[in-house]
Amino acid sequence: MSRPAPKSFHVKSFGCQMNVYDGARMAELMQAEGMVEASADEADLVLLNTCHIREKAAEKVYSDIGRLAKREGGKPMIAVAGCVAQAEGAEIPRRAKAVDLVVGPQAYHRLPGLIADAVAGRKAVDTDMPAISKFDALPGRRSVTPSAFLTVQEGCDKFCTYCVVPYTRGAEVSRPWVAVMDEARALVEGGAREITLLGQNVNAWTSEDQKGCPQGLDGLIRALDKLPGLRRIRYTTSHPNDMADGLIAAHGEVASLMPFLHLPVQSGSDRILKAMNRAHDVASYLRLIDRVRAVRPDIAVSGDYIVGFPGETDAEFEETLSVVREVGHASAFTFKYSPRPGTPAATMDGQIAPELMDERLQRLQALIGEQQLAFNRATVGRTCEILIERKGKLPGQMLGKSPWLQSVLIDGGEIGDLVEVEIVAAGPQSMHGERPQRAAA
Ligand code: 5AD
Ligand code: SF4
Repeated sequence: MSRPAPKSFHVKSFGCQMNVYDGARMAELMQAEGMVEASADEADLVLLNTCHIREKAAEKVYSDIGRLAKREGGKPMIAVAGCVAQAEGAEIPRRAKAVDLVVGPQAYHRLPGLIADAVAGRKAVDTDMPAISKFDALPGRRSVTPSAFLTVQEGCDKFCTYCVVPYTRGAEVSRPWVAVMDEARALVEGGAREITLLGQNVNAWTSEDQKGCPQGLDGLIRALDKLPGLRRIRYTTSHPNDMADGLIAAHGEVASLMPFLHLPVQSGSDRILKAMNRAHDVASYLRLIDRVRAVRPDIAVSGDYIVGFPGETDAEFEETLSVVREVGHASAFTFKYSPRPGTPAATMDGQIAPELMDERLQRLQALIGEQQLAFNRATVGRTCEILIERKGKLPGQMLGKSPWLQSVLIDGGEIGDLVEVEIVAAGPQSMHGERPQRAAA
């Protein structure tokens, strides 16, 4: 049975920044197709751009589908995109009849055709990983924000034993130099003043520049640094084994490269790291942090930690707390181990009881919370630039990001402004800034 073609759309992204980026590109594609953006309560088409990294995230999509299926005023056309789409494919419409189409993270440039199928009453599922990059088929950038994401690398070849990414996002692929530079230029022309380069292993990015010379992420960062109008560069997320000498050096040499490094270690125990197939140990991780701090002493170091990996003993968890103490994080993400179908760790002996995982998570979060507050307090009194990204909660208040990625509230200013502020107060989550008082001339 056919139905009317959707005239409006809504994209809801879950999970990582790469999904946020993909969600923005999907929205641009829908706009290029003549659709207008609307709220989830009103849109004719709702795209759920899903995350499969942990069970809780993956299950969320089904509650959203349930809610949309019973939406007041009628069920929209429902599209499931992202990593759950890739992992579960045709299972999704079988389990949730309300779903009209499923599209994987490498195939979403084909959305117009899939929507046409759904309009014609055919359930469409596309989880191909086509040889032609979606990036070549997508329309140009439109939805540009002062701080913009730019995916330069996708997929992962590392096969950490807990992780679904190598299965949902496929093999490590770097986008070519020219494509990345062109997109960066388009973003800057559209008003971006900060670009965050994204990849599952962004520091493994490699390509040849326009002269045919091999380049790594540091070469790309140095070229972007020369783009007029681009004031700040960030990158996330990185693997310790791809932290090349040149990239470390760039942190000391490239002024627009912000002093922030997200470098996950996952565990403080060498035995667990081995079981995770991380291919690095704790000592080599700490050496990397030391080397980055040697060239950029104020760098804010962030990371990811998993508690309760199968077989993790109390003593091994204590080692994680020790490594956190040794690093001194500005922030970090903490996760309870979640067994994922098809990954080696899911069938390992020694799965940890949920109560024990909760207890470990709480202790780890308490420690990281203390460190975050200490880091924030240590920036009080400093003068720095913030990039204003949005309005704050109070009237007239604006929220910007410091070089160390802290949220800083100030009075006044416009979205997209880079303003100099003195940090005057610190909380665990946000800071207060004031424009410095200049001595009268
Ligand atoms: N369980 C818990 N956390 C996980 N991560 C990846 N897979 C899992 C899992 N199965 C975490 C890792 C990774 C981050 C993106 O998510 O810490 O760095
Ligand atoms: Fe997952 Fe490990 Fe690859 Fe990161 S490096 S995406 S944790 S497999």
